[in-house]
Parts: sequence; C-alpha cells; structure tokens
Amino acid sequence: MHSFYVMTDLHYFEHSLGAAGEAYEARSLTDQKCIAETGAILDAAFARIAQDSDTNIVIIPGDHTFNGEPESHAAVIAKLNALRALGKQVYVVSGNHDGDHEAYAFRDAEQFTIPNVTREELKALYHDFGPAQAIAQDELCYVVQLGEGLRLLGVNYAHDIAPHLPFILEQVAAAKRDGQRIIGMMHVPVLPGSPILTLPSDATIKGGAQVAAQLADAGLPLLFTGHMHMQSVTKTTTPQGGFFIDICTGSVVGGPAMVRKCAIDAAGRMTITSAPSVTDFDWDKNGMTAEEYFIWRFERKIKHELRKMPRVVQNMKLGTIATLLCFRAPKSLRKRRLIDACADIVRRVFYGDQSYTSETPEHIFLMKVLRRCRLLVRIAQKKLAPKNAIFADLPALVSALLGKDVKIDNHCVIDLNTGEIAPLEL
Ligand SMILES: [Fe+2]
Ligand SMILES: [Fe+2]
Repeated sequence: MHSFYVMTDLHYFEHSLGAAGEAYEARSLTDQKCIAETGAILDAAFARIAQDSDTNIVIIPGDHTFNGEPESHAAVIAKLNALRALGKQVYVVSGNHDGDHEAYAFRDAEQFTIPNVTREELKALYHDFGPAQAIAQDELCYVVQLGEGLRLLGVNYAHDIAPHLPFILEQVAAAKRDGQRIIGMMHVPVLPGSPILTLPSDATIKGGAQVAAQLADAGLPLLFTGHMHMQSVTKTTTPQGGFFIDICTGSVVGGPAMVRKCAIDAAGRMTITSAPSVTDFDWDKNGMTAEEYFIWRFERKIKHELRKMPRVVQNMKLGTIATLLCFRAPKSLRKRRLIDACADIVRRVFYGDQSYTSETPEHIFLMKVLRRCRLLVRIAQKKLAPKNAIFADLPALVSALLGKDVKIDNHCVIDLNTGEIAPLEL
C-alpha cells in the first residue's frame, strides 16, 4: 500500500515584505486566497501532516509563493526541510507564480514592485525536492521512485508542455516496460474542472484536450494539478480505450482550502479523501472558524466581481425575475437576491460535489428563465458561438455548469487499471 498527501498552491508570502495597509486591503478584495495569513495557515497545515505517521510522502504541484519573492521561497524551503527532518519525503514542481512573475508588496496606500526569482534560479532552489532523487529527468520534468512498484512524474511549470511530451511519453512507456505504475503531478490542469473553464486560456495548458488524449493512450492514468484553486476530478477517454484523469486540488490558503490524502493498494485501487487544510490557524478571524473564514473570503471576492453589475440587477430577487417573466418562482428561491444566487453557484463549482442537479429547484428555475428568454438566448448564442463553440447551446452550457451530471470531486476510489471512478462514502 502506498499513501501520500497532495497539497498545493501554498502561495506563501513573507509578511515582513509588506502585507498590510489600504493597498493590501483593496487588493485582498479581489483574491480568494489569504496572503497576510499564509504563515499561520501553512504552519497549521504542515503540523497536521507531520502528525500523521501513516503517510510519509507529500507532493506539492506548484505556486509555493505569492509571486516568487526570494524571501518567500527561502521560508517555504525551510518549512519543507522541517517536514523532511520529521521523516517525510517531499516532492514539488513549480507553478506560474514561482518564477519570472512580477512580485510586489504593500505599504499603506502603496503597492510596489519587489525582486522575484527567475525560473533558472528555481531549479537550484528546489533541486532537493525531486530532481535530486530522480531516476530520469529533462529540463522540465523528473521521475522519482515513490515506493516499490510506483513512480511519480513531476512536470515543472510551462503553459506549453508539447516540447517535453516525447520525454513524458517515453517515461510512461519505460514504467510499463519495468512493471511499474506511474502517476504524475503538474501545476496547470490539462482538463477543465468545469465546462466554463474552457474559456480562460490560462485555466488549462495549451492544447489540453489533445495532450490528455496522448497521455490517455500512452497509459498515464492521472495527474494531480492545482492552479485553479478548485476541487475537481475530471476524466476523458479516447476511442482507443485509453483514459486520463485530472485531479485538481484547492489552494491550502484559500477556499476550498483542502488537502487530499491518497492510498493505492496492490490491485491498483486508489482511494482519495479530501480534508480541510487546517481546522484552525493562529489569526484573528472575527469569531469565524477557519472554514467560515475561507468561505467568507471566497464569497467576498466573487461578490466584488459581481458588483460590477448595475445595483438594481444585483439586488433583484429571484421571485421578481420570475414574475417579470410571467411564472412563479418556488418559495425557497423567491427572496434570494441575484448576487447571492450567482455567488453560491460559483462557490459550488470551485468547492466541488455540490451540484444543482437537474431535479433541484435552482436548476429548474434557471432553465425556465432561459426558456422564457429564448429570443435573447438565441441572439447571444449567435454572437458568442463564433468566438467559442461552447456558447452554441447556452442552456446546455448553463445546465452543465450547474451540475446536471453529478461529479465526484472530493472523495472517490479510482481504479488505475480501468479508470473507473466510484464515490467514496465516508
Ligand atoms: Fe495558485
Ligand atoms: Fe497557478
């Protein structure tokens, strides 16, 4: 039996660089992840993992720092070394926020640029957490032997991994030849965790669908990813019978602040459970629990975006919208404001497992709104579909976004031989 933790997007920020004042508070409104609090959160998260003597492997797929500040990297590495001193094997790959990224800090009303590390410097900084133990590597990737019969492929950050696919595919083939299982980790997802995430070009790697098909046919069953700060398990299959699963995990320091624990048995069944990254952390949370604090931060960010809508629209009750469209909203939805309903839907997408399936009042209500507005929907489809094919059928897109098909995002059992994903009742 092999077991390991997956934690990602630590986004540590060395507080002494400057994380307070009006400029910091203004920026915080636009971010679901906590920054000033990262030291307290990470110390609590690492302490929990250190206490678990059953699991001695930790893998971290990138975004170790806020924006690649050298001081933040030094502090993260000290924390990783402390974990190692307690007997944990720690393997990491870099994320987009770790190198060659504009770094900044805050003082009073000012946000100012500070030094960052380059991608070249990153390689040396994290050499001991993967590359030093590698049985094979190229400029971007490495392979380590996680345990008897199990290898881990680590792919450092690149938006386009095409130049490294030959190495990756060769390592998958080599594992097969040697009778080894191989799993992987990489920062940016290959597959979108929600249909709507096919839209932002940086939500997945370049050519994600094609890369996923190649990995599936080569026999790499899965990659653990981060970057999107969401809980999702997304599978694709190929006509040749291959499968590939992208398992995205939320940031340790922002809702859904989760850590996954995985165990693989001798038959190749991988059990995944997800738990909050911390139960508490040393910070004044205005009387909230850690979980409530993360949800508050998440909803504050989403509502900050949604407040760009005219105020009268934001505050419109769902009951009023239904009346305007000549139908009656179910009682449970009538008093809900549009801004709260939208924030709730977005939170459910990111937290996972909380779909509004087709029989729920929310799903039925929204589909009815779209049917009543079919002329507007048709105009919008005509305008948007040439830009992206997912807009060709807006009701289908909205239905999928709400969670028409139930997804299993947090706890599951994956058969690494067949790709079958089964829910795990805790
Ligand atoms: Fe991140
Ligand atoms: Fe990222």
